[in-house]
Amino acid sequence: MRISVEMASQLLNEGNIVAVPTETVYGLAASLLQPEAIQSIFSLKGRPANNPLIIHLAEVSELANYTQSLPPSVFSLAADFWPGPMTLVLPIRETSIPYKVRAGLSTAAFRIPSHKAAHRLLQKTGPLVMPSANLSGKPSATSADHIEHDFGLSFPILDGGDCLGGLESTILLYQQEKWRVIRLGALPPECFDKTLGYVPLIDSATSSQPLCPGQLYRHYAPETKLTLLKEIPADGSGIILGYRDREYPSSYRPLYLGELSQPEKVAENLYTTLRTLDLDSIPSAWVDINVPHAGLWLTILERLAKASNG
Ligand code: TXA
Ligand code: MG
Repeated sequence: MRISVEMASQLLNEGNIVAVPTETVYGLAASLLQPEAIQSIFSLKGRPANNPLIIHLAEVSELANYTQSLPPSVFSLAADFWPGPMTLVLPIRETSIPYKVRAGLSTAAFRIPSHKAAHRLLQKTGPLVMPSANLSGKPSATSADHIEHDFGLSFPILDGGDCLGGLESTILLYQQEKWRVIRLGALPPECFDKTLGYVPLIDSATSSQPLCPGQLYRHYAPETKLTLLKEIPADGSGIILGYRDREYPSSYRPLYLGELSQPEKVAENLYTTLRTLDLDSIPSAWVDINVPHAGLWLTILERLAKASNG
């Protein structure tokens, strides 16, 4: 069910969950003040309780309601990247944020989205927690149709059109006197060089206790079994997720993610393409990962690796 900003605000303030567009992916929103709605988000998504939620704000000044002793450069990062697809994990005053939201951690994740409808809504509702609006483990949702598919036709959706970024926010955490990327996202690590004076390192998330709890779990995965290929065997066949500006042997049936020359478009199309595989009941597909190892491609490769469970 498509609803207005006014209706979305009313539903959220009454303790309901609403799907909300952002510039990255759609979120499943609940008011930070509604503990039961927050609990329902976990059950609705099938989300593990130890995976905390991002708190979305309308203005930077709201941070002061929750945080303490902020790490350096928070306000420079905020000035350069908010509103936008950057999430900062910050130390908080534990009494200011429900235990469930932060999964018991003494930090919380914050983001100010730039999507106009999300921003107007946040101005009316105050802080909203929003995980991506998909069933846990499945590809994220970048259109209202995706949400209807996952949660049914009567689910309330603030329809903001297709998400143009198509990849979740980049998450930064301050540790040992440096900011680190703990989840790759819509902003490549190099983006932060100008603001910080260095490129934040990427936390490899190989440990059993990653800095970003969400990295523990399977993500973005369609039912289709995906196999990543660095080289395309000339004698192979089957469906291949590939690029329009590359030639494939005629024995393959390419399903195009976009063009190698336009990683932003590949990002925008990624989850829709993964969802199409399931809609078409395709049992298995190859994925061409012979792409540059830089910029937005790093995030795209990470999502494809997770989607293939590899
Ligand atoms: O673009 C986005 O970030 C989207 C839109 C809706 O804003 N949201 C999103 O939320 O991707 P979700 O729940 O799918 O991913 C949030 C990630 C999880 O991996 C979680 O573990 C991590 O943020 N996270 C949240 N709080 C954290 C904290 N205090 N410390 C470390 N990681 C945290
Ligand atoms: Mg997610």
